[in-house]
Amino acid sequence: MKPGFQKYIPFQPQKIENRTWPDKVITKAPIWCSVDLRDGNQALVDPMNLQEKLEYFHTLVDIGVKEIEIGFPSASETEYEICRELIEGGHIPDDVTIQVLVQAREHLIRRTFEAIQGAKNVILHFYNSTSTLQRKVVFHMEMDGITKIATDAADLIYEMSQPMIQGGMNLRFEYSPESFMGTEMDNAVDICQAVLEHLHATPENKVILNLPTTVENCMPNQFADMLEYFIRKLPSRESAIISLHPHNDRGTGVATAEMGLLAGAERVEATLFGNGERTGNVDIVTLAMNMWTQGVDPELDFSDINKVKEMYERCTKMPVGDRQPYVGKLVFTAFSGSHQDAINKGTQYMKESGSEYWEIPYLPIDPADVGREYEPIIRINSQSGKGGAAYIMEHNFGFELPKAMHPEFGHIVQVETDRVGKEITPERINQLFHEEYIDVDGPYYLRKHAFQETVDSEGHSRVAFQGTIQHTDTIFEVSGEGNGPIDAFFNAIKGEKMARFSFLDYFSHAITNGSDSQGVAYILLQDQRDGRKYWGVGLSHNINLAPLRAILSAINRAKRA
Ligand code: KIV
Ligand code: ZN
Repeated sequence: MKPGFQKYIPFQPQKIENRTWPDKVITKAPIWCSVDLRDGNQALVDPMNLQEKLEYFHTLVDIGVKEIEIGFPSASETEYEICRELIEGGHIPDDVTIQVLVQAREHLIRRTFEAIQGAKNVILHFYNSTSTLQRKVVFHMEMDGITKIATDAADLIYEMSQPMIQGGMNLRFEYSPESFMGTEMDNAVDICQAVLEHLHATPENKVILNLPTTVENCMPNQFADMLEYFIRKLPSRESAIISLHPHNDRGTGVATAEMGLLAGAERVEATLFGNGERTGNVDIVTLAMNMWTQGVDPELDFSDINKVKEMYERCTKMPVGDRQPYVGKLVFTAFSGSHQDAINKGTQYMKESGSEYWEIPYLPIDPADVGREYEPIIRINSQSGKGGAAYIMEHNFGFELPKAMHPEFGHIVQVETDRVGKEITPERINQLFHEEYIDVDGPYYLRKHAFQETVDSEGHSRVAFQGTIQHTDTIFEVSGEGNGPIDAFFNAIKGEKMARFSFLDYFSHAITNGSDSQGVAYILLQDQRDGRKYWGVGLSHNINLAPLRAILSAINRAKRA
């Protein structure tokens, strides 16, 4: 054997003239078939028990999947029992078709027919392997022998199905040339055409031809070329539904499915979150939500994706990765400051423009569409910009910090992230904000105060302020008048040491938490001795008191500094 990479045989692309698939776009949902309970289940360390399979089945029904491969009933007693319970237990809605898999072998086909007795809608799915490699190393057979296995099975299936169909069962057929991707395309066409004929397929009674990428061995564009070639060459194309069954060995299962749809496929077999043999089957959630983000209705409901994830992880005991598209814990999180800033601006733009469309950079989908929340979108670590912390304060806690205050608070948060060396939570950011600006502990305290407002005959108002202030152990009374509470307070403290601060700026807004509404005031003061500026924040149910608290917060912060 050659060493290293030289031991691999490169994929031989299918030659095709004038391919048309690259100019196409996906405009409608394919027929979806879930293979979670068969391909997914057979790839689990601990296959699901009956209860788990039933719960999983009901979730798939709720999502809107109409064709569900429930297992391999001839493979074991357990699989047979599960099939019977689904049918006899009345679990299958009338508009859902169950699919059962069987190898193209007589005794297994007979057992499968027993298993499906009494079901309303069934797809009987049979397969045999057709690839060059399997013919050489597993079956030691020429293509003729492989075709005979398939057509003998087709004959038996057709014959056994007639009484059932006459008895009222909606029984359809599916054939998979297993390892289609490793089969010479002309051989794949011939065997599929033979199967269509033996099953008496017609445009009215189509047979599903499922063309699996049993092992992903080429680039998705090369697969699409193969598929377009296959479809062009298949004589009874109109009597077939072309189905895909991509696995994900090269990590391009989604692209294979999407390009396969462009190349003419009408149906996709897939699993939730891509569970399946080895690197898995193609992920139905990603495929569906990719369509959604292109303005195409996938006809599947993932509006509560966390619920689906929870069921999936519990039943399969397989974790969903933090970066898994649409569902992973981190996929709606921006760590980079510039991303956070752009998201912030996009959100603002959406609000102001009333845009009908989703136009937020770095968020290809509205998290709410999959039942996720905006709150965790921005998380703060030492790479976050100054706007990130302010964004959290606004979106998670309702504090609309003045723009000029962002750098100061951003710096405070950054010092903390550098100190702890990891990301910090919105709760910790809120705590830092309160510690820094609201719960500032002295040296000045407002012990008591009173405001009195008088309005003269011309409507001018004057506010009188009287208060008791404590500075360390000293308590003193102050009083003054002004045209508003802030002015009155500054006039009251004239002559005190606190008077060295001059007033620069003021913002306020209401902050509502459930039914409780408070006023929050942000005041910027300047220390006349050294010119340094200090923000203070005050919170109160009383609109006059919030700015006083903000002034004391700024003064106390200056003292502390
Ligand atoms: O991957 C595969 O080829 C299969 C077939 C049985 C359809 O699962
Ligand atoms: Zn498979």
